[in-house]
Amino acid sequence: MTTTASTSASAAKSTSNTSTPVIPLTNQLWTEKYKPTKISEIVGNKILVGRIVEWLENWQKYADARAKGIKERYDKNNMSFFRSILISGPPGIGKTTTAHVVAESCGYEVLEFNASDVRSRKVLEDNISEMVDNRTMTEFFVARPKDNEVPKKTKKVVLIMDEVDGMTSGDRGGAAVLASLIRKTKARYIPVICVCNDVRSQKVQPLINVCFDARFTKTPANQLRSRIMTIAFREKLKISPLAIDQLVDSTQNDIRQILNILSTYQVADEVMDPNKAKSIGEKSFKDSQLQLFDIPSSLMNSESWDKKSINEKSDIYFQDYMMAPLMIAENYIKYEPDRANLSNNMGNPRITEAMKLKLMASASESIADGDIIDATIHGRTQDWSLLPIHSIMSCVRPASFIKGEIKGGSYGRLNFTSWMGQNSKTEKNKRQLHGVKTHMRFKAATTRSEIRRHYIPALNKRIFSSWKNASLKAFGKYKETIETMDAYYLSRESLDSLSEMEINKNQPISEISTAQKTALTRAYNKMSHPSPFKKEETSTKKMSAAAAATAAIIKDADELGDDGDEMIEEW
Ligand SMILES: Nc1ncnc2c1ncn2[C@@H]1O[C@H](COP(=O)(O)OP(=O)(O)OP(=O)(O)O)[C@@H](O)[C@H]1O
Ligand SMILES: [Mg+2]
Repeated sequence: MTTTASTSASAAKSTSNTSTPVIPLTNQLWTEKYKPTKISEIVGNKILVGRIVEWLENWQKYADARAKGIKERYDKNNMSFFRSILISGPPGIGKTTTAHVVAESCGYEVLEFNASDVRSRKVLEDNISEMVDNRTMTEFFVARPKDNEVPKKTKKVVLIMDEVDGMTSGDRGGAAVLASLIRKTKARYIPVICVCNDVRSQKVQPLINVCFDARFTKTPANQLRSRIMTIAFREKLKISPLAIDQLVDSTQNDIRQILNILSTYQVADEVMDPNKAKSIGEKSFKDSQLQLFDIPSSLMNSESWDKKSINEKSDIYFQDYMMAPLMIAENYIKYEPDRANLSNNMGNPRITEAMKLKLMASASESIADGDIIDATIHGRTQDWSLLPIHSIMSCVRPASFIKGEIKGGSYGRLNFTSWMGQNSKTEKNKRQLHGVKTHMRFKAATTRSEIRRHYIPALNKRIFSSWKNASLKAFGKYKETIETMDAYYLSRESLDSLSEMEINKNQPISEISTAQKTALTRAYNKMSHPSPFKKEETSTKKMSAAAAATAAIIKDADELGDDGDEMIEEW
């Protein structure tokens, strides 16, 4: 048995030196007691497990070849060229177990790191470098090899990095450091198995390029059934095959949950009938929170859709009612709706495409209606009692049109909602526009939207073309540009905002050379300019009460003016 290494490298222990107290088998949790110890006991993902075994068995052979300077041919199909493997998949399907069992069965010692213990980039870097680099590694290699020499091995070691997606909360560097360590020559004598739940998580992206991508999927029900039957038989537990099916179904094939439920039952010494199995399984499943990326698939995958009642579907929204609608809106377009497939049978693909478009249109309409409801919930009236209706319009109803299979099957990628990014961009644009409007208010007493639509295109054309065409050497070179700026009380910073608000793809400021930019700034700073603001008082003198009240009224009036503005649709 291995222990999880603590944050210090020296604490990363090899399998043999661990002195964990031995718990008698009868007292052990079933998940421990029936933990696979042989490859044949791992249920499901047989092909992937087989490939990992093959990879680890051949690892030394290829590592030696690499060390001898044989050129690496990167061939995605030949996994022997990968220095590392990334096992990913939902919780409780045996990822960690597989890593250990495979390592042991191939005659490797395990050095395990639980990556969530290693919170920062620095600690990770120090620890792994130390471990790979350290003199103590002579324990594993009799002599430290010179660059082109094959190491003489005594014990083979595999490094298991568990839960790499939990690594370094708030610091994205963790996975990148690990990836660069895997790439490093130093690490070439040690195979690395990384384990994570969600391969789509941003945090593990750096690892994807250096690791073989092994995506574990949930074990099919029929394979689980026989394993559970065997365990129930050994434990003399009275449970009918139908009850097992119910358990498998309601926990969505989670063997770890099933084993936990059954062992609790065995203690209570009751007979489990199918109804009881269903309700317990469902309760236990509900207690386990869905991950954000599971939300779209648990609604839009047809298998999962068909199993659920409307209330259960609506419950998924309540797992995260802020994010669920956004995740659906982002990803619904990636699905191949079942309802469009029907027309395939008639052999007319065009109908299928048209049908698909219709379904997509219906889904997007529903999402749009959901948005209107959302505005009431989060708007002035704060009508929170509308949440259930919002759940139907924003999630359940769109999914009812779209439900099917994601394009690309199990390798299909869901995206994180892009709304967040767009929203902050909108906010930034609003702020910039507000700034420009404040500058221009003596010249253009109008709304933001008017400025955005009519003033900015004309101003941009005038300012940027005169700026770009001004000769660096000519006398009074930036006269025209600066005159326009002054006429509208624009500052040098306003020009950046103006450029960012250009509708064309290319920002006009990108066409201005650095020399031109510096020259304009210099020329501008040399002169004095009209300003629509009263300069900030630098003295610490306190404002009189009357002055403060006037300032507050002016400020209020300014803000009120903005309230009337409508943001234009393009944003
Ligand atoms: N494929 C499997 N075959 C047999 N037993 C399994 C399998 N998957 C899980 N189990 C049982 O569940 C327990 C937990 O598995 P394990 O810790 O490997 O899951 P995991 O995928 O690493 O989960 P997590 O993502 O939460 O770390 C094991 O000890 C074992 O008893
Ligand atoms: Mg695990």
